[in-house]
Amino acid sequence: MSSEITDRADLIAALRWQVEAGADEAIADVPGQWLKEPASADATSPAPASSKAAPSAAPGPAAPAASSDGVRSASALATAADSLEALQAAMAGFEACPLQKTAKNLVFADGNPAARIMLVGEAPGRDEDLQGKPFVGRSGQLLDRMLGSIGLDRDTVFIGNCVHWRPPGNRKPTDAEKAMCLPFLKRQIELVEPAILVCVGATAAQSLLETTDGITRIRGKWRPYSTQKGLIIPTLPIFHPAFLLRSAAKKREAWSDMLAIQAKMTELGLLG
Ligand code: URA
Repeated sequence: MSSEITDRADLIAALRWQVEAGADEAIADVPGQWLKEPASADATSPAPASSKAAPSAAPGPAAPAASSDGVRSASALATAADSLEALQAAMAGFEACPLQKTAKNLVFADGNPAARIMLVGEAPGRDEDLQGKPFVGRSGQLLDRMLGSIGLDRDTVFIGNCVHWRPPGNRKPTDAEKAMCLPFLKRQIELVEPAILVCVGATAAQSLLETTDGITRIRGKWRPYSTQKGLIIPTLPIFHPAFLLRSAAKKREAWSDMLAIQAKMTELGLLG
């Protein structure tokens, strides 16, 4: 076939192109002819979850779909965990989430568990997966600078994610994956008991505040988040730093959101 690449340099260039496009995980042992496979909505597909034309997973051992059994088991494990250490251990032994098949590490959390401010992002990317820590890549560096602008750092905040294993190719987590990880995130919040919660990006805001509104509409507006124990935590959705890296014009609103967090800290007596 004329499109076949046989030259070594071309092969390396083709691989590099795929890595730059985010396809940096082998999700099956054998290569598949994706275009010939019938379409399916398999959760392991690196294509966008909403795409009807998504190709099926390549042939090979299929990962189990995120199931309601998985959500039930996540809820039971999360409820039983009486400390962050116990929760992390329970999550490390949890095998129902299909993302574990392709992720290198569980990305549990980072920062200070005694912090009064907790931030929640979307899902780990490549750097986070490699290091097993949230927000350590480019967007994490911007998040650190945003926190630094109001005198915060990883000793004074706790950082978690909606999804604790990297979706292959950095695609958005599916609803099923988010549902399966939500009990773990909610238990984390309950165990940390922050005075302020910050939803970093639309995924976190929509999951925790149970809204379908877009981030542009809800950012910068405080809303209550209630834990199962009835603790009400003032919660602020902000733009995700990955979005800010692409949309410099939004940094002005992002700055105003950081000032709103600082003002809330003052109001709650959290500043020295
Ligand atoms: N983006 C997120 O939402 N979370 C991370 O941990 C890294 C990037």
